[in-house]
Amino acid sequence: MRILSGMRPTGKLHVGNLVGALNNWVKLQEEHECFYFVADWHALTTGYDDTKKLRSNTIEVIKGFVASGVDPEKSVVFVQSAVKQHAELHLIFSMLVSVGRLERIPTYKEIKEEMNYKDLSSVGFLAYPVLQAADILIYMAEGVPVGEDQVCHVELTREIARRFNYYYGEVFPEPQPILSEVPRLPGLDGRKMSKSYNNILELDEPWESVEKKVLKMVTDPARKRRTDPGDPNNCPAWGYHKAFTTSQDELNWVIEGCKTAKIGCVECKRKLLENMKRVLDPIREKYNSFTDNDIMDIAIEGSRKAREVAEETMEKVRKAVNLLF
Ligand code: TRP
Ligand code: SF4
Repeated sequence: MRILSGMRPTGKLHVGNLVGALNNWVKLQEEHECFYFVADWHALTTGYDDTKKLRSNTIEVIKGFVASGVDPEKSVVFVQSAVKQHAELHLIFSMLVSVGRLERIPTYKEIKEEMNYKDLSSVGFLAYPVLQAADILIYMAEGVPVGEDQVCHVELTREIARRFNYYYGEVFPEPQPILSEVPRLPGLDGRKMSKSYNNILELDEPWESVEKKVLKMVTDPARKRRTDPGDPNNCPAWGYHKAFTTSQDELNWVIEGCKTAKIGCVECKRKLLENMKRVLDPIREKYNSFTDNDIMDIAIEGSRKAREVAEETMEKVRKAVNLLF
């Protein structure tokens, strides 16, 4: 199966990206032909007014991919804006979607509300999911690893593929979302992990800082005193245990100890930190071993491979639509 997924370069990747997406990407590359990219044009839809960090953020995101185990020898790792064919396909697709359909996509309203301090009335922001459809279909991808919130974009992609095929002949497959089985990692304050909430752990976060932040992380508010019993299900630290603690005995020790107040939160978090260290140390080490030039080489080579596939699709598309000049 051909797989494609991407992330917007809005800043350094965090541990939530690792648990929620990258671990799954790494697994998928063993069995499938995978395309993983940085959606820098998508970042413009909300970040059009300040692009100073676009290039450095793009490099950090690729660094994060590779540090997490995405292997540029196995997967095609590339940058969206280096493959101009996405923009050409986006233009053609934009004829096949109504404005009303795009206005009704849940993410459109949600992000507008979340970022109400910003003017998001542009054509570009409205058409964000059309560009995403082009990203997916230009590689004839059949599987799209995404979070729950992005399923509506894959559904739109299927509609566009159907409509294109209906008007111009069978060209595109209808891709499926691939949802990760691992639950989303909460932020350090229990809300959704997001840079704008200042509740993240960056992928290359120094260990001393991880320790400090995890020990300060919110826990079940019922455990005001050491002797008060709690419930892991009301505790963000438990979300981290589920992601990083692999031993069933240790997980049972947490549940049992928390509910009976046999263990304290500091003890619980010390155990968690032990398990996080095992995962995060090698990733940070790898992260810091790359220079920006190493990353440029990966991006250039990956984008060259991506262009070949994308151009092949566009030749079919131009022929199907009778754009032959
Ligand atoms: N919209 C995705 C996100 O915010 C990023 C993205 C852009 C993407 N193009 C894509 C994801 C194509 C999967 C496939 O997370
Ligand atoms: Fe959370 Fe562990 Fe404290 Fe229970 S003991 S509230 S799971 S940190």
